[in-house]
Amino acid sequence: MDFDLPILAPSILAADFSQLGKDIHDCVDADINWIHCDIMDGHFVPNISYGPSIVKAAKKSAPDAFMDVHLMIENPDNYVDDYVQAGADLLTVHFEACPHLHRSIQNIKKYGIMAGVAVNPATSLYNIEPILEYVDLVLIMSVNPGFGGQSFIEASYQKVQELVDLRESGEHGFLIEIDGGVGLKNIDKVAEAGVDVLVAGSSVFSADDIPSRIKELVSKIS
Ligand code: DX5
Ligand code: ZN
Repeated sequence: MDFDLPILAPSILAADFSQLGKDIHDCVDADINWIHCDIMDGHFVPNISYGPSIVKAAKKSAPDAFMDVHLMIENPDNYVDDYVQAGADLLTVHFEACPHLHRSIQNIKKYGIMAGVAVNPATSLYNIEPILEYVDLVLIMSVNPGFGGQSFIEASYQKVQELVDLRESGEHGFLIEIDGGVGLKNIDKVAEAGVDVLVAGSSVFSADDIPSRIKELVSKIS
């Protein structure tokens, strides 16, 4: 798939769930075509968010949007089919949750969707070097996973640079995504570091006027 990079990817974790459809329509009205869905099980991360039914509802609200599903869960292999049926276009599993990561990535790709791997702030990229040729996206966590509204971990810039270098030296084609603490104050610097997909939750959905905030964020990365 070709994408017009860099991409702003609103994380609906921060949306108002009493009006999720409206919040997603606001994103679509602001020309968003990539939605980030944070799945949390209360085990891999100390929080529970939502499951396939919300992803399905989000897809219904934005049928043309690319559904990026970030699995912050244990045993993600057991849920791939559920999220594919819900409309996922990309499933990203955590390196830290997959003892058989190569098999997990192959298990996603056999559905014909994109497969991503995520690394937590304390995880070195050299742990995922053997899988880089097989993935479509690498997600760098710039906060400790589990909650929106946290501060961006500044060491993430160095990690992005390392990943850019690994992609270039290995002649890989994966996208680089960053997730957590991205907002008006740093989104330009994050994009300049070489990130292709920038996840933003609270900086999007905390705004009174979501479409205007999205346009403001996009203007800083275009
Ligand atoms: C955290 C999630 C992030 C988070 C981003 O575990 O993976 O996607 O929702 O939210 P903000 O942009 O508020 O940090
Ligand atoms: Zn996420």
